[in-house]
Amino acid sequence: MGGHGAVCPIRGEANAIAVRIARAASGRDKVAICGYHGWHDWYLAANLSDGKNLAGHLLPGLEPNGVPQELRGSVFPFQYNALDQLERLIAEHDIGVIKMEVSRNRGPAEGFLESVRKLATEHGIVLIFDECTSGFRQTFGGLHKLYGVEPDMALFGKAMGNGYGITAVIGRREIMEAAQTTFISSTFWTERIGPTAALKTLDVMEREASWDTITATGLKIREGWTELATRHGLQIDLWGLPALSGFTIQSKNALAYKTLITQEMLGKGYLAGNSVYVSTEHTPARLAAFLEALDPVFGLIAECENGRDVTGLLKGPIAHAGFARLN
Ligand SMILES: Cc1ncc(COP(=O)(O)O)c(C=O)c1O
Repeated sequence: MGGHGAVCPIRGEANAIAVRIARAASGRDKVAICGYHGWHDWYLAANLSDGKNLAGHLLPGLEPNGVPQELRGSVFPFQYNALDQLERLIAEHDIGVIKMEVSRNRGPAEGFLESVRKLATEHGIVLIFDECTSGFRQTFGGLHKLYGVEPDMALFGKAMGNGYGITAVIGRREIMEAAQTTFISSTFWTERIGPTAALKTLDVMEREASWDTITATGLKIREGWTELATRHGLQIDLWGLPALSGFTIQSKNALAYKTLITQEMLGKGYLAGNSVYVSTEHTPARLAAFLEALDPVFGLIAECENGRDVTGLLKGPIAHAGFARLN
């Protein structure tokens, strides 16, 4: 993507910047969203008209208290892979911006991303891919490179700074120039730790092709979870990008089991749940030791599926449900 860019430390802020620029560029206020894009007013406004709007994208039951009522009807959600929903939004509202994650729990249906791109182009809508989480996990850059669909703007963070605060907002020159027609600025944008960390991280990622390593490791972890589940007669659903894999045990007690896994694995020195953000330090030896430690915990879960009371095993309350894509 040839064009302009800006950096700031925080992803939620970068998302607010991107929406401001995209609204300025399209000259239209209404935004269609699919995914999680931070905590700011522009995004939470989706719940003003219907408290369930963000349930499938972030968390159920989010109160938009403190978000001005005047923002009602400015942001509309559509479900991933539901092109008809996006088409309806565009037909019924004057949508100027589409902001979405390229892939969530599951990959895109055949032609979905291409159709979103086509709709955006046909209607003069600015298409933003929020790759804060997906970036550098499967390609050297965005997931959109894998699918061959170009957005008008894209956001990168997380892996790009390897833990340091940095997010990049990039876009086509003609769209990014709209930033000159509004006011966006912050004292800390000249802070150098985040950008320095990102430059070094980019070097190391490129040198080591880390996205290939973490993808292969993530697939191995999935295999490991699947083998353990089979061994203990449990049914699991797998989800996420390979490098951001997760599983859900098919049971009404899934959340209690997730809590049990964390409790038992902490006792063995692992901070673990039902998902993993793979890094290049997850070596085969560490992975083998992890799966060995997890084996008896799956055994305990199988006992519970066969009648043992899981709450009797828990030393604390059952964990709250996490973000919509991490349960
Ligand atoms: C895709 C995406 N966008 C935005 C955010 C918000 O990031 P932050 O919490 O750093 O503001 C997140 C955080 O998980 C995210 O996954």
